[in-house]
Amino acid sequence: MKAFEVNTQDPVVVAIAADADAQAGEREALLARAMGLKWKRKSSQKLRRGRRPSEGLAFVARTVDGALAGTVRLWDVATGDGRPALLLGPLAVEPSLKNAGIGKALMLHAVSEAMRLGHAAILLVGDVPYYGRFGFSAEKTGALSMPGPYERHRFLALELVPGALDGAHGTLKATGRKSASVRIASAA
Ligand SMILES: CC(C)(COP(=O)(O)OP(=O)(O)OC[C@H]1O[C@@H](n2cnc3c(N)ncnc32)[C@H](O)[C@@H]1OP(=O)(O)O)[C@@H](O)C(=O)NCCC(=O)NCCS
Repeated sequence: MKAFEVNTQDPVVVAIAADADAQAGEREALLARAMGLKWKRKSSQKLRRGRRPSEGLAFVARTVDGALAGTVRLWDVATGDGRPALLLGPLAVEPSLKNAGIGKALMLHAVSEAMRLGHAAILLVGDVPYYGRFGFSAEKTGALSMPGPYERHRFLALELVPGALDGAHGTLKATGRKSASVRIASAA
């Protein structure tokens, strides 16, 4: 667990920890507060629905009193030409704690853990002015696409292994482990 102090009006100590399935309701409530319900309608959600996050790549930030301060998760996908990659999102921070470094800490932690676990590239749909500061750009996503509507200029990638996305093309598909409810339904 990594702990750090964030820069709000009163100093708040926040720690990043692994997420757990039991925290789903709490996480969804934070997502609704941070971004309304639009995250559920995004094309990225098509690649997440019915899947579990990539092993070891779901994180929360909590204040010392245990309140959820932020969330980020990464998902296993493959490019249309079969290259394994991660899809990042949603990233969200509790509105009252915005702009204090929690999103940045979650991003840096997520990227470094993805790299440590040997992943080659991370993709996401998000704001260039924010994600650009972590090295994401649209440079390698021109021939890639999301499985549904999205704004092309916001489709970004970060190579963890240089050249991992050279020539990558086609529509992303989900490759992650199925969630328990999907496994039960398909076994029935
Ligand atoms: C976007 C979000 C995750 C950033 O996390 P955070 O902890 O609030 O922000 P950080 O402390 O990491 O970064 C703050 C900096 O990012 C900038 N920033 C925040 N959101 C931004 C955005 N959408 N686009 C561009 N810059 C942004 C701030 O202006 C600030 O800039 P500065 O360092 O130059 O002062 C958070 O504000 C949030 O949950 N927003 C609503 C949900 C959302 O839109 N998520 C997806 C983002 S595309």
